[in-house]
Amino acid sequence: MKFHITTFGCQMNVHDSQWLASALESRGWRQTGEDEALVYILNTCSVRDKPEQKVYSELGRIAGHLRRDPGVFAAVGGCVAQQIGRGFFERFPFVRLVFGSDGIAGAPNALERIAAGMEERLALLDFMPTYDERESVPAQSVQFARQAFVTIMQGCDNFCAYCIVPYTRGRQKSRHPDAVVAECQALVDAGVREITLLGQNVNSFGMDKGGVGTTFAQLLRRVAAIKGLDRLRFTTSHPKDIAPEVIAAFGEYETLCPSLHLPLQSGSDAVLAAMRRRYTLDRYMGVVEALKRTRPEMALTTDFIVGFPGETERDFQATLDVMAAVGFESSFSFKYSDRPGVAAVNMEPKVAPEVAADRLMRLQTLQNSITRKCLKMLEGMETDVFIEGLSRMQGGEVPSWKGRDPAGRIVNVHMKKGHADDLVGMLVPVRIIEAKKHSLMGEGTGIPW
Ligand code: 5AD
Ligand code: SF4
Repeated sequence: MKFHITTFGCQMNVHDSQWLASALESRGWRQTGEDEALVYILNTCSVRDKPEQKVYSELGRIAGHLRRDPGVFAAVGGCVAQQIGRGFFERFPFVRLVFGSDGIAGAPNALERIAAGMEERLALLDFMPTYDERESVPAQSVQFARQAFVTIMQGCDNFCAYCIVPYTRGRQKSRHPDAVVAECQALVDAGVREITLLGQNVNSFGMDKGGVGTTFAQLLRRVAAIKGLDRLRFTTSHPKDIAPEVIAAFGEYETLCPSLHLPLQSGSDAVLAAMRRRYTLDRYMGVVEALKRTRPEMALTTDFIVGFPGETERDFQATLDVMAAVGFESSFSFKYSDRPGVAAVNMEPKVAPEVAADRLMRLQTLQNSITRKCLKMLEGMETDVFIEGLSRMQGGEVPSWKGRDPAGRIVNVHMKKGHADDLVGMLVPVRIIEAKKHSLMGEGTGIPW
């Protein structure tokens, strides 16, 4: 059976889609281009903007393929599926499966049954009380054979006032730490060199019904100690939950990459309180200082929301100030958007769209100049780049490659003559020669390993 997956949203969704594709391939299905597929899978996100509209317009396009083959059908998964549920069946009769984030473990079998004509329609929308372990699947490509995501938990209990995630992904459910460590060990045994631990709020790992007394700091140490693992990352961290033991681990394990995504959202204590983030700017700055003290080369990235209800120009100025004070390497910033059912919907006064747009532009302008400075400082430095694929910039006698340095920055690497081997999945010693707007250029200086 030929299938095609389109993914929106976060790394959790990207990883879910990779897993689903591998699980289908291990059943003999084949991933194809958009014009050839018979089964279309949309993995959706509802965190911002107009996600439903995006999904409806994708489904409209897929409907066009029914003319080519009336057997074409679609499956909708992820956060929008959880929200709209069976509503998709009425609006789009060719949608025959909807599944939420807890339903994904059952999606491959469900798709198989539908494709075999055993079921007309299926909905996997129930929230599970504990984490549903998924079947293990082989990696799909060399890159994924070397770099892997490992989900450690599902859902979120924080109910930040703007956020739909606790509603679409349900309560927090941690995996058993032994299952996580066993999966990481098996990946490393199979050749994986870089692992990213994933969860909506990894720092509260274990603090739910699925917990067995192992904290995130303890889990992190167990994974970091796996022999043969070269790089370890984790995301996403909540500033209120990150423990001193986690910060200390950055000083103990070379494999723990010196970067952290630590969403701040706003620099104003009044706005943070209204957002129900449960930390102050002081607490955040304390974490930043401790991180930099522990690992001076630490690269910090963050998320901001501008135009949250009640945000004043002064509040926004505080956000600009902290952006400059921390010197974030990069950030994602968004205009606040009302999500159905979240607490902030009823908060007043709303910020006028043109005011929010103006703040967003000012924030992003400042970020661009900070990013440029951070990257410029790396010129001349020696580092290791983990090669993920060919660079878009070719033209030399041997291929050029694209990869990431330990902090996760994108580096385009030119190799010296004679280095024509395929380097995907290799670590290459590199000297940074030039900082571009959002990436770095480097030259290979040693032998890939
Ligand atoms: N409006 C704007 N941005 C949002 N985010 C989450 N919910 C909203 C919303 N309602 C942003 C936050 C979060 C990131 C993943 O998306 O900054 O950290
Ligand atoms: Fe949403 Fe807050 Fe949970 Fe992050 S921590 S997923 S922003 S509710």
